[in-house]
Amino acid sequence: MKRHPILVGNWKMHGSRSSSVELMSSIASGVSMRPVDVALCVPFPLLQLAEETLGSSTVAWGAQTLSENEDGAHTGDVSARMLREFGCSYVIVGHSERRSAHGESDEVVAAKTRTALQARLTPIVCVGETVFDREAGLAKSIILRQLDAVMSTLDEVERERCIVAYEPVWAIGTGLTATPEQAAEAHGWIRSRIAEGSAVAAESIRILYGGSVKPSGAKDLFSMPGIDGALVGGASLISESFVAIAAAA
Ligand code: G3P
Repeated sequence: MKRHPILVGNWKMHGSRSSSVELMSSIASGVSMRPVDVALCVPFPLLQLAEETLGSSTVAWGAQTLSENEDGAHTGDVSARMLREFGCSYVIVGHSERRSAHGESDEVVAAKTRTALQARLTPIVCVGETVFDREAGLAKSIILRQLDAVMSTLDEVERERCIVAYEPVWAIGTGLTATPEQAAEAHGWIRSRIAEGSAVAAESIRILYGGSVKPSGAKDLFSMPGIDGALVGGASLISESFVAIAAAA
């Protein structure tokens, strides 16, 4: 089964009021005729700009994390309700940069995922191994541990509503993209694990690859049957690159 592809840009901590309107508009016009879902996950301060700029386009928008708590005394956090108020459709959860820099545990990632689902956001659940894990032959076990921690707390319908992003930590921001075969192998581990719980969810859930995706390698990545799109960092900040990746999907 070929699932509808999706391309998500993760702007990380980049963008400004002055430059982002042009970048968002350029991306929106560049992908408007493409048969691929496209979303931009921007920093919180740019969400209103995204809503104003992308609201009448085919491009959706989202955030890069959220609080697992409801509105309240949580200094510095942003709630799912607030993301919905600014028109978000997606939210990234468990990105490796947050797992490492903010100490986000598997359990916190699972809680964030449930909070996103309850607010009718689509969570993009990130899993991935470090170079040390891979060199020690632990890539599969690390990926499946992270996946199980989230999926074991969801019912079948909730699992189907998730998107999973396989992001080998050693490929993020390094220019070192996983080979299509490496990515496809990891996607196979993920989809097989989901199938153990629900064949339906395994068929429908979209699994993205993330980690130094560039226009030059996108076609080969997307040609692999189990790869349903990409979660793109640096290349999503350059309209021509991101539009070229969308054209390959
Ligand atoms: O979430 C996507 C990100 O981690 C990948 O970043 O710059 O390697 O495409 P980049």
